[in-house]
Amino acid sequence: VASSVVELCGIKIAKDDVVRDDPTNNIPDTIFSKLGMQLHRRNNHPLGILKNGIYEYFDTNYPNMFDKFDDLCPIVSVKQNFDDVLVPADHVSRSYNDTYYVDSQTVLRCHTSAHQAELLRRGHTHFLVTGDVYRRDSIDSTHYPVFHQMEGVRVFTPDNWEASCLDPTSYAAEDLKKSLEGLARHLFGAVEMRWIDAYFPFTNPSYELEIYFKEKWMEVLGCGVMEQEILKSNSRLNSVAWAFGLGLERLAMVLFDIPDIRLFWSIDERFTSQFSEGQMGVKFKTFSKYPPCYKDMSFWINESFTENNLCEVVRGVAGDLVEEVSLIDNFTNKKGMTSHCYRIAYRSMERSLTDEEINELQWNVREQVQNKLNVVLR
Ligand code: PHE
Repeated sequence: VASSVVELCGIKIAKDDVVRDDPTNNIPDTIFSKLGMQLHRRNNHPLGILKNGIYEYFDTNYPNMFDKFDDLCPIVSVKQNFDDVLVPADHVSRSYNDTYYVDSQTVLRCHTSAHQAELLRRGHTHFLVTGDVYRRDSIDSTHYPVFHQMEGVRVFTPDNWEASCLDPTSYAAEDLKKSLEGLARHLFGAVEMRWIDAYFPFTNPSYELEIYFKEKWMEVLGCGVMEQEILKSNSRLNSVAWAFGLGLERLAMVLFDIPDIRLFWSIDERFTSQFSEGQMGVKFKTFSKYPPCYKDMSFWINESFTENNLCEVVRGVAGDLVEEVSLIDNFTNKKGMTSHCYRIAYRSMERSLTDEEINELQWNVREQVQNKLNVVLR
């Protein structure tokens, strides 16, 4: 049962302040109950171990340089989350389909970049921000609506680049790439890496770093040279800066061999007891794979149907017992009506599910999908 009050950065916040019966609010109870959990602050949790491992890299290579924040409030203004980092007014990430809104001006941060501007304004020039971030999304073994990111920012002043023969932007970009390649080696050892050109509204140029792991290229972070406008608006004239943002779960799944993102939330001792402070990359041993159970459901969709909304309804009923929701059939008939068939995989990480309980879940899912999404079951 979710407690109805959470303490966030020293402030007690009641459920009614976050989860409201108000059309501008789209935060379900399942998400409210994650606020204040702060998995990244547990030193014997894989996310905390990874955070500390990254701190260690920066502390060794840049002694006493980076200020660290891991307790900034995840409830931020639309301005902090989007405007301050130049996200365009019509960008999809602002939609109710992608972001959790407390009210029309307040969101659960969807990235740690939400804190760039305020920290620059407060005078910080080298900082790491770790926190829980929230995104409405589809369901599979690597996506969960709450995950954790670390943001890094480093500001340079003219005396940094003047001694080099590079222009300020190239100087920052070079330094960024060197620092992050070093971080990847610190975490993964001698891996193959490549830089991919990318786009973010708040950096230019922008890149993604990929590493070659288990026969696949895997994206590990996004980064780039901070847009001048952000520096100027936050009293850093004559500066250049780099910024990066990395997803802790994605890295931890690889480093610790964790097969499913839901496990990070498990309180089963067979999971939690396998990790301890400072033990980076200890391989997780699955306690046994319980069988999945698949249920299909087909319905005629309407114009407002989205997969994110479907996933939220399914998660609202089945919680962490749902492992994946995938579209397996999609067709439009002569009358122009579109039918979708989704396959839901139910599987507990901790025990075998009975037929009875899965049938009951599926029954409730069907009912809620019909009522909340206004679709017509077939
Ligand atoms: N905020 C970006 C994301 O969540 C990551 C990023 C951070 C990219 C900083 C560039 C610079 O995807």
